[in-house]
Amino acid sequence: MLANVKHLVGKLLRKPAAPADVFYRDHDYLTAYRMHTDLRVARDPRAAIGGRWHEIGLLQFRFLVANGLAPTSTLLDYGCGTLRGGRHFIGYLDAGNYTGVDLSPRALEFGQHLVAVEGLQRKRPSLVRNDTPEQPFASVAKHRFDFVLAQSVITHLHEDITRKLLADVAGVMTDTAIFFFTYNEGARYARRRRKSYVYPCGFFAEQASLFGLSITDRSRDYPHPDGQRMLALRLGRGA
Ligand SMILES: C[S@@+](CC[C@H](N)C(=O)[O-])C[C@H]1O[C@@H](n2cnc3c(N)ncnc32)[C@H](O)[C@@H]1O
Repeated sequence: MLANVKHLVGKLLRKPAAPADVFYRDHDYLTAYRMHTDLRVARDPRAAIGGRWHEIGLLQFRFLVANGLAPTSTLLDYGCGTLRGGRHFIGYLDAGNYTGVDLSPRALEFGQHLVAVEGLQRKRPSLVRNDTPEQPFASVAKHRFDFVLAQSVITHLHEDITRKLLADVAGVMTDTAIFFFTYNEGARYARRRRKSYVYPCGFFAEQASLFGLSITDRSRDYPHPDGQRMLALRLGRGA
């Protein structure tokens, strides 16, 4: 209500739209989310994807290396944003082994800019737009990755989108791949803010079992400053 009033007043004063306004217009959720990210990247590309640029960039990088990511590994950074983690992965991995996918064209543009500024072109990263959100892996469907990471992505996705992501991820994983992803824990699934969702761990256990994946809680090894939890999925039902 308050946001609608603010939107109206903003319009009357001919102010440019604030990013949050897109959620109150007639867009489906992922379209609004993409527009919101684009607008925020235009304002501040490092803050747009959650801030704590150095801390959380290094956190995800060090965690994957501690869990077997080698320069020869291939990595899909799903929802790579403006490369908070990506810039570390690109520098570390062999040329051609990093793929970042995102909904937001502005985030990917900034990512390309960063790759140039940081002298990382020789690593030939692929930065790919997901322009078919209903088919989450369509843009990379021909590839198989040793690691898939979704840092602070499912934290923003409602359960139908998350289900589809978990249903399809096996299609881009090698036989021994691990899919690491973070989420915010809640007693039950709920939308907390405009683009923030919480899940019980049981939701992921149920989905993993439906899709023949094994699941491990790695949160104790992942000291995320805001308490995001970390799960690992592998192909097969485990031991
Ligand atoms: C909070 S940011 C995190 C970015 C990055 N993983 C990091 O840790 O810095 C979430 C990103 O996921 C992207 N995203 C969300 N849903 C997506 C989807 N279904 N397909 C591709 N990208 C998505 C958003 O556009 C946004 O850039």
